Amino acid sequence: MFNEINSFFENSKSNIISETLISDYTKEIEQSNKPSLYKCFYPLKSCSWDQQEKYNIFQLLKDSQLTMGLNVKKFEEEFSEYNNTKYSVMVNSGSSANLLIIASLILSPKYNFNKGDEIIVPAIGWSTSYAPLSQYGLKLKFVDVNPNTWNIDEFKVQKAVTKKTKAILAINILGNPSNLKILKDLCESNKLILIEDNCEALGATINQIHTGTFGVAGSNSFHFSHHIQTIEGGMISTNDDELYHYLLSLRSHGWIRELPFKNYISNKSGNEFEDFFKFVLPGYNLKPNEINGLVGRIQLKKFPKFLLQRHKNARYFRYLFNSSDYCKIQKSLGKSSWFGFGLVLKGKLSNKRSLVIFELKKNGVETRPIVTGNILKNPMAKFLEYSIFDKLDNTENIDVNGLFLGNDHRNLIPQLTRVKEILENIITKYNL
Ligand SMILES: Cc1ncc(COP(=O)(O)O)c(C=O)c1O
Repeated sequence: MFNEINSFFENSKSNIISETLISDYTKEIEQSNKPSLYKCFYPLKSCSWDQQEKYNIFQLLKDSQLTMGLNVKKFEEEFSEYNNTKYSVMVNSGSSANLLIIASLILSPKYNFNKGDEIIVPAIGWSTSYAPLSQYGLKLKFVDVNPNTWNIDEFKVQKAVTKKTKAILAINILGNPSNLKILKDLCESNKLILIEDNCEALGATINQIHTGTFGVAGSNSFHFSHHIQTIEGGMISTNDDELYHYLLSLRSHGWIRELPFKNYISNKSGNEFEDFFKFVLPGYNLKPNEINGLVGRIQLKKFPKFLLQRHKNARYFRYLFNSSDYCKIQKSLGKSSWFGFGLVLKGKLSNKRSLVIFELKKNGVETRPIVTGNILKNPMAKFLEYSIFDKLDNTENIDVNGLFLGNDHRNLIPQLTRVKEILENIITKYNL
């Protein structure tokens, strides 16, 4: 392959890329396949690319224009086929997907979703699950998470809904579906908008329906640490024609160029000179590029195999820890896609998280908090306008006692076995 890369550069007659640069570049790529990047025994994430992604990227570099084009379009179509939705809109990250969903819902008159409206959210999520809500003037109402699924507590949500509520945001934490059936029914009977942040849950299903497709729109992330990796990248899924047009326009400068002739925002005139540069919405530039699109297509084809291995790892993880008396694990509702393996310490390890992290790290095991932990304990919360429904006790316990281990497309049986040994050793070593 590397000969081919070199000969491609040589044949390209480019005087910009020097030979030294080529060999440095080649060396770097070769090294990325070696474990140096992932020195630790059990890292939180691992690269799921092989030569196929790299080879195809080099082929793509022969094209002079790498901005959003055919590969992105094809990836969107293939993604829609994958999760059985009418429309997919690719963006440059999962955070951008969340932002674009909110911007579109607010700007589209169909939803009558306005500044000052209330949206119910779980207290565990990602900073950019919440940031766009306050940027668009929404009032957040935090509800505790379910102690078993660690997603928004579907029973508390039912009590939290008031006349002021306009929407519910479900965040499928660590690949585990929220109780989307109950949430969807609740939204339908109260005329609420259901939105899903599915950035951690690609491949999760409930009765074979993909998460990220239950609400009016769902976001996905293809960041390096996620189920498929496009460098950076994200996707929005929706079945709503009008919302789709808003997403397309807002993704690209607020213009109408990518819209059909007749559309929900501003019909085209037929005069290309006008139609290509007509700006109708206060938009962004959140477009992905062709490398993201191309790699997304390759990764999506490989994804069933990746997911199978994640499930195999999860089966073993559950076998090891399901009835543990020193930690609690997430109960999956529907079919989780097991983004990672969460542990909430209890019994002899309760409130001993620093010690556990220390011992795991010493033994080459990377850990991190369960997503944001309690988002309200993060300084960014001061930028949100919010209220809290009842108490956040389960969130608080996860915040204090929770940590998670990675899961990926490789067999992690040795790693998980070692984690169990380390945890049990802590109890004996420190006489807990
Ligand atoms: C729940 C959730 N939402 C959104 C995001 C943002 O995705 P990205 O990193 O692609 O912007 C993340 C990132 O990990 C996430 O975990």
